[in-house]
Amino acid sequence: MLVPYVPTPIPVIDAMLNAVNANSEDIVYDLGCGDGRILFRAVEKFGVKKAVGIEIRKELVEATLGKIRKKGLEEKIRIIHGNFFDIPISEATVVTLFLLTTVNKMLRPKLEKELRKGARVVSHEFEIPGWEPDKVTVIHDGILTHKIYAYLR
Ligand SMILES: C[S@@+](CC[C@H](N)C(=O)[O-])C[C@H]1O[C@@H](n2cnc3c(N)ncnc32)[C@H](O)[C@@H]1O
Repeated sequence: MLVPYVPTPIPVIDAMLNAVNANSEDIVYDLGCGDGRILFRAVEKFGVKKAVGIEIRKELVEATLGKIRKKGLEEKIRIIHGNFFDIPISEATVVTLFLLTTVNKMLRPKLEKELRKGARVVSHEFEIPGWEPDKVTVIHDGILTHKIYAYLR
């Protein structure tokens, strides 16, 4: 596995989704969705049309599926158990990432090939090498500083 599981703090998620103006027209994909927190926030706070998470770790997928059922959000949130390099993402209008610069670099050709014009990509902490961010947001949570890179395709 290339990237460990580290969750994004909720204020950082809000800043990420604000940076790309996530809204009711959007289909949000989180590549490596962990416990699904970005998906829940996108649906419950930002009112996006649909949120899809791809996650390789089975126990995280199962826990997130349980939360989706408990909240009755089966129509809004979908989790795919698998490797995000192998799964089509072309329906996404917003892609969220919290991976590593090296992984973002490996993902770049897939993003360039599959995402439609007007799609936005937002990455917590790690840039996408070779892309110029349209907006960089810095958040201080009292202990840590977080950087958010937003890109418009
Ligand atoms: C740093 S965590 C971020 C979790 C979540 N996106 C968030 O921001 O809270 C990265 C996640 O990506 C998952 N992951 C790593 N490589 C993956 C791959 N190739 N395909 C799918 N998931 C992957 C890890 O299991 C982990 O849950």
